[in-house]
Amino acid sequence: MTLKGKKFLLGVTGGIAAYKAAQLARLLVKEGADVRVAMTEAATRFVTPVTLQALTGQAVWTDLWDPRVRDNMGHIELSRDRELIVVAPATADFLAKLAGGLADDLLSTLCAARRSPLLVAPAMNVEMWENAATQRNVHTLRGDGVHFAGPAAGDQACGEVGMGRMLEPEEILAEIEALFQPKPLAGKRVLVTAGPTEEPIDPVRVITNASSGKMGYAVARAAREAGARVTLVSGPTALDAPAGVQRIAVRTAEQMFEAVKKLAPDSDLFFGVAAVSDYRVKNRAAQKIKKGAGGGMTLELIENPDILAWVAALKDAPFCVGFAAESEKLAENAQAKRAKKDVPLLVANLAQRALGADDSEVTLFDDDGRHPLGPAPKLELAREIVAHVARMLAGEKRTRAKA
Ligand code: C5P
Repeated sequence: MTLKGKKFLLGVTGGIAAYKAAQLARLLVKEGADVRVAMTEAATRFVTPVTLQALTGQAVWTDLWDPRVRDNMGHIELSRDRELIVVAPATADFLAKLAGGLADDLLSTLCAARRSPLLVAPAMNVEMWENAATQRNVHTLRGDGVHFAGPAAGDQACGEVGMGRMLEPEEILAEIEALFQPKPLAGKRVLVTAGPTEEPIDPVRVITNASSGKMGYAVARAAREAGARVTLVSGPTALDAPAGVQRIAVRTAEQMFEAVKKLAPDSDLFFGVAAVSDYRVKNRAAQKIKKGAGGGMTLELIENPDILAWVAALKDAPFCVGFAAESEKLAENAQAKRAKKDVPLLVANLAQRALGADDSEVTLFDDDGRHPLGPAPKLELAREIVAHVARMLAGEKRTRAKA
């Protein structure tokens, strides 16, 4: 529970997504956070202060001139003890106000007078989001250090489809949690491989591994949360790139290898999470192979390069973390793999328990022995793996593949 006891000001502005602010307030309260709500006048047209009062168990503030604030310094007092201001939804109008430093109602004044960080979750029609003025304001706000959660693309309340949908409350909650993560990898360049690779047999058939990419994406996200600059080289997955992570999409092991070859020498850390196909088809058919009249079929396979072993063997290798999914004898196989690839840290799990799932259970193997983690959601495991790596780096343990 990263958010237990944390003090938030939840600002709600006037858009249809305001109804989701009620759910966000509820999620924050469930996490044990202290949630004070300030609404704009327009927001109260979409959701009533009574709703947010009931959900947070606190008075809701809407008026700059509220006589309940004894010294009439509500615009300062109400945000002074807050650790984060979250504005969800944040309308185009409100972003414009923030960017311009305007303070003409309670919420904009609280933001202008804040000492705490500010996270906004924009919500607006696609044209409003793409409007040059809005984009200019977003750019200004990012430059001012304002954090953005979303928006996402998708169906909009107005019937149009496109960028501008507010993130779901659960996603905003995850962004808030991310802000409170420690930053032990600040300034580090991190390279992550994730997902399966696909090795074509013919134009429509492939050899691949059963991998959802979830663990690799979670590692990329956790590294980003820890302050690193992260590049994710990903095979085909159904996942969205984590916020703030640069993704390079590849298909085959050879393409993944090419991308890694370019990036690894300039990286401080390398996480090889991808389930790289060990073999590719020697003679890929240019046309779809027709089914024969009974009988079998033989494919000639050739071995793919071992990307992790290549990175670990670089003269100035980044700190390398290998991942291994085993189906039996976890410790034995993992230790053998760690030695063979010569990496300081190997994360192993039983494939049967993790494939495609949101939760997993892993064991870390390093020079100090074994460290079991989980069962837990993959993002939580990824955060712990990143924290373990940061401790190894700080402790100046063996951080090079070649000692
Ligand atoms: O497939 P294997 O169990 O050997 O994978 C262990 C580790 O090696 C993983 O971190 C995986 O990403 C990496 N690997 C690789 N290139 C390969 C095979 C595996 O980078 N061709």
